[in-house]
Amino acid sequence: MNIQNNVQLKPFNTLSLNSICSHYVKTQSVADVLDAVAYAHLADLNVLVLSGGSNMLLPEHVHSLVLHMDIQGIEVLEDNPQSQVLRVGAGQNWHEFVLWSTTQQLIGLQNLALIPGLVGASPVQNIGAYGVEVGEFIQSVQVYDQQLQKLRSIAAQDCHFAYRHSIFKEQPQRYIITHVTFKLPKHAALKLGYGDLKAAVGDDLTAENLQRQVIHIRQSKLPDPQDYPNVGSFFKNPVVTSQVFARIAHEYPQLPHYPQNDGSVKLAAGWLIEQAGWKGKQLGSVGMFHKQALVLVNYAEATLADVQATYRAVQQDVYGKFHLMLEPEPVLWSKHGLLLAHTD
Ligand code: EPU
Repeated sequence: MNIQNNVQLKPFNTLSLNSICSHYVKTQSVADVLDAVAYAHLADLNVLVLSGGSNMLLPEHVHSLVLHMDIQGIEVLEDNPQSQVLRVGAGQNWHEFVLWSTTQQLIGLQNLALIPGLVGASPVQNIGAYGVEVGEFIQSVQVYDQQLQKLRSIAAQDCHFAYRHSIFKEQPQRYIITHVTFKLPKHAALKLGYGDLKAAVGDDLTAENLQRQVIHIRQSKLPDPQDYPNVGSFFKNPVVTSQVFARIAHEYPQLPHYPQNDGSVKLAAGWLIEQAGWKGKQLGSVGMFHKQALVLVNYAEATLADVQATYRAVQQDVYGKFHLMLEPEPVLWSKHGLLLAHTD
C-alpha cells in the first residue's frame, strides 16, 4: 500500500478546485480497501472516498485519508436468454461500461450514456437521465461497512433508491462501495418518454441509436469539464407539493413540471434559475452556464469559497422570485474529512 502525503486533488475533481489532501491512497482491490481502512484507523483519520470527482466540492486543505477508488473489471455472473448479471468494479469508468453493455446487446443503460464518473458512485445519488435511473438495473451493491467493520452485499430493495437519493446518502461515510452488481435485460422496450428523445431517435429503434442520440443531446447542452470545469447539474430539481406547484404555476403558467406518482410535482431547476436571471451570468470566476442554467462552471481559478458565494447568490435570487430553496446536488467535503450538509 502506497500512502502519499500532500497530494493535489485538482486533476481528480471535474470542477478543478485546488485541494491538497494530507493522506492519499489508490485502491485497486478489496484487499487494498481493507488495508487502507486499517491504516486510517491506526492513524486516527477519517476516510473520504474519491471516485470520478464529478459530483463533489473540495476545500483547499483536507486532513483525512483520501481513498481513490480504482477497482476495475466487469465479471459476468449469470448469462441466460433473458438477461445478464454483471459484477462491475467501483473504479470502472461509467460511460465505458454503458458503451460495453450496448455492444453486448444489453438494454437499459443507454439513456445514461456520457454521465461522467465511475460505476461505484452511480448508486450513491442514483444517477438518472432521460427517464431512467440506475437503481432500476442494480441487483445489489458490495461494500465495506465502516460501522460494522466488514464486507457486505446490500440488496437493491434495501438501498432506498429514489430521485438522486439512496441509503449511501442517508449515511454518507458508512459505506465504501467496492463493486456494483447489475441485472440487464436482453429484450426490453427502449425508454423514449423524456422530452424530445422519441423525435431524436426517430424510426431507428435500436439501443445503439438511442445511445447515440443521448450522447448528442448531452454534448449539445452540457459543457465538457475539460473546457468548462463543472459537476453537471449543480442543484436538484425541487420536488414540491401540488399546492406549491399551483402557487407558482398560477403566476408562471409556462413553468416546466413533471407530476410524480405520489401526487408531488418535480420542477425544472434550470428554468427557475434562468427566470431568476442567472443563465450565462457570473459572479467573479464562477457562473451558471449559458446553454444550461443548472450547470455551475468554474471559469478561472475558483476556490470553494468562490463557488459557495455564487451558488448562494443563485439560491437567494431563486428564493426571492419563487419562494423555493434549491438544494445543491454535489457532496461537500470538510477540511477534517467529513461530508457536510450545505448549510454547515
Ligand atoms: N430549462 C430552462 N433553462 C435552462 C435549463 C433548462 O428553461 O437553462 C428547462 C428546459 O427547457 C426543460 C427543463 O428545464 O423544459 C428541463 O431541462 P433538461 O431537459 O435540460 O433537464 P434538467 O431537468 O435541467 C435533469 C437532470 C440531468 C439530466 C437531464 C436529462 C437533475 C438535477 N438533472 O436536468 O442530470 O441529464 O435531466 O434527464 O435531475 C446531473 O444530474 O448532473 C444531470 C446532468
